[in-house]
Amino acid sequence: MNNSIKISPSILSADFSKLGSEVVALEKAGADYIHIDVMDGHFVPNLTIGPEVIKKLRPLTKKTFDVHLMISPVDNFIKDFAKAGADIITFHPEATKNTSKTINLIKKENKKVGISLKPNSKINLIENYLSEIDLVLIMSVEPGFGGQKFIPEVLEKTKLLKDLIRQKKLKVDIEIDGGINFENCNLAKKAGANILVSGSTIFKENNGDLKRNIEILRKN
Ligand code: DX5
Ligand code: ZN
Repeated sequence: MNNSIKISPSILSADFSKLGSEVVALEKAGADYIHIDVMDGHFVPNLTIGPEVIKKLRPLTKKTFDVHLMISPVDNFIKDFAKAGADIITFHPEATKNTSKTINLIKKENKKVGISLKPNSKINLIENYLSEIDLVLIMSVEPGFGGQKFIPEVLEKTKLLKDLIRQKKLKVDIEIDGGINFENCNLAKKAGANILVSGSTIFKENNGDLKRNIEILRKN
């Protein structure tokens, strides 16, 4: 099994009428992380869940809660998501006036820090922060909705980022998020991503066989 690759299923594609059992099912199916998409209807044109839901999900699993904040302003909510049980808190630099301040707010809560780049956002937006963070989330769709088509142009950016991390001798994970399926997951890995987020592929392919779909993404 390819141990270096982690699979982080996005619960945005789960059945929201039974999120608790869906999270438990993902753990049983071999998910490494649980990707939780938080949207505020302001930073992105969609509205999902907040800290209260995460608080209710927390006791159901020990799996890492990989929380993707598509909200702005973001600083006022860092503490709430940390207290609710987030393990990794990823934000968009466009959602804060001071990226360093937001990074430090997350670190103060002893959580891992992720920064997310939208498909058109350049690496230079985050280059100076690489030594302070744990993860870069490369969006391969415009943030806001599951089930969109993978944007292959982000693979070049992923390769550049991987080289930069290597040059700087840093230990920063590269997570790719959006439209990942059985055909493009290998391209994402080859480009340098070591964490794959997937919602619709994991929940919909093979009649929703979570275990099988997670395994295929990990192995392909
Ligand atoms: C989109 C979210 C993604 C999305 C992934 O804004 O950040 O995590 O839910 O879902 P799929 O895999 O269906 O593109
Ligand atoms: Zn996401």
